Amino acid sequence: MSSPTSSATTAPTPGRLGDEVARRRTFAVISHPDAGKSTLTEALALHAKVISEAGAIHGKSGRKSTVSDWMEMEKARGISVSSTALQFEYGDCVINLVDTPGHSDFSEDTYRVLTAVDAAVMLIDAAKGLEPQTLKLFQVARDRGIPVITVINKWDRPGREPLELLDEIIERIGLTPTPLFLPVGIAGDFRGLLRRGEDGAATEYINFTRTAGGATIAPEEHYSPEQAAAKEGDVWTTAAEESELLSAAGQDHDQELFLAGHTSPVIYASAMLNFGVRQLLETLVELAPAPRSRKDVNGDQRETTDPFSAVIFKVQAGMDTAHRDRLAFMRIVSGEFERGMVVTHAQTGRPFATKYALTVFGRERTTVDTAYPGDVVGLVNATALAPGHTLFVDKKVQFPPIPSFAPEHFAILRAQSAGKYKQFRKAIDQLDSEGVVQVLRNDVRGDASPVLAAVGPMQFEVVTARMLGEYNVETNLDNLPYQLARRTDAESAPELARQRGVEVFTRTDGVMLALFGDKWKLAYVQKEHPNLTLEPLVAGNDQ
Ligand code: G4P
Repeated sequence: MSSPTSSATTAPTPGRLGDEVARRRTFAVISHPDAGKSTLTEALALHAKVISEAGAIHGKSGRKSTVSDWMEMEKARGISVSSTALQFEYGDCVINLVDTPGHSDFSEDTYRVLTAVDAAVMLIDAAKGLEPQTLKLFQVARDRGIPVITVINKWDRPGREPLELLDEIIERIGLTPTPLFLPVGIAGDFRGLLRRGEDGAATEYINFTRTAGGATIAPEEHYSPEQAAAKEGDVWTTAAEESELLSAAGQDHDQELFLAGHTSPVIYASAMLNFGVRQLLETLVELAPAPRSRKDVNGDQRETTDPFSAVIFKVQAGMDTAHRDRLAFMRIVSGEFERGMVVTHAQTGRPFATKYALTVFGRERTTVDTAYPGDVVGLVNATALAPGHTLFVDKKVQFPPIPSFAPEHFAILRAQSAGKYKQFRKAIDQLDSEGVVQVLRNDVRGDASPVLAAVGPMQFEVVTARMLGEYNVETNLDNLPYQLARRTDAESAPELARQRGVEVFTRTDGVMLALFGDKWKLAYVQKEHPNLTLEPLVAGNDQ
């Protein structure tokens, strides 16, 4: 058993720990809703033999239940709000797929998830190309310096030209796509993949066979380029020519450029038919980075082989209404984690016992005894832990906080019955610390009915649903006519508060926010009072 004070017992031999780090791959899928994220997740689970058959996989009800559906609202809307992680072994690697919420209203949660991964898979619907949520999330991945692998999905359906989609990626996001595999067969008649060699020449043809409903792994047959030309004729020649064109344009894979975020390896796939899914796993294993050191608040690097440390990136309550539990998900940054070890919570300096440690995927919960950098572990009843917090043993470390998104929706929340005020307050504090919404207060409005600030209005629905479901408090929401927020300070606040149509609040984290009805109002105030502090909030979704 490890102890928090003894590095001799907490630090496993660097060799073994180093090996565990080297074989880990931690990634998230970023996509616009309906691009096929749930289907791809299932297909990966199928390949990793986590599930034996994708059962009702492509029937709505069955498929959705493999992703988290802990809340009625999630079920009703077919979205996933909670972020969980699927861990599986593939070859010699341990792969952690961290789930992201499916709806743009929860993009702040997605942002937090992206602080916990080392790579992202950008999933694009072949017929639709780049969609708004893909663009937004890609920007976040870029801001965080996360390498991106692109999967062009639904190639089994009629769509666009393969190279046309690549041009769109170059033009709209400035990322150079470097296909590792090209589709053989036009969109809608997907036969297999051409594997591109270093110089763009085809090295092999992987031919897939459809299985009934795509419920099981699609059998693969491998052919040499010559055999492929004989077997497939024109469609093979077209793919081989496209490959050469890409090479001529310099679109061949370069590992350094990929890791630096300049290029993105591309795979054409059909998650539904399980075509290209094994090739994605192969790419993750061979090209995606293993966990790396992370900078702390002082700019020092915490090496992966240093004593245990982790960041909390998600807090989730109410996943199991019978137990009223609260799970804090940590991503391990360094060292070995052993369940039961006592760690220090950097924000409070208090010890934290890790007796109950779990992995959670959908309804599945498994106790975790040991975990390594890159792994995601849920800690049960971790009331003091909030997104951005650090846990460590031995050498003290604190990682930088996760910045909050700029809210664009504002509403006053009131308890319907004054008798429930105590529960109401408790619930607000709880949801605030979990990062479900931002909570704003000012002296004028008082504390009885706080103002909630959200990136998307569905976050308010989560608040009212949980208020009722978990705390038995009925609430009313009154929308406020503000659309944007700017960071201000105590010096500027009085003058801003005097402006008509502007209100100043303090967020729980101490940041002062001035709220404006629209960008014209903001522009007017800035013009009239150029000396007032009015700074944009965080990147990611800033206006
Ligand atoms: P999401 O999690 O990103 O929101 O997407 P999801 O997997 O739920 O997929 C959205 C729709 O796209 C589903 O259809 C799914 O079956 C379909 N889909 C996903 N991958 C592929 C693919 O590779 N090829 C084709 N042709 N379709 C794909 P749906 O009509 O909403 O549901 P269902 O009735 O088909 O299950």
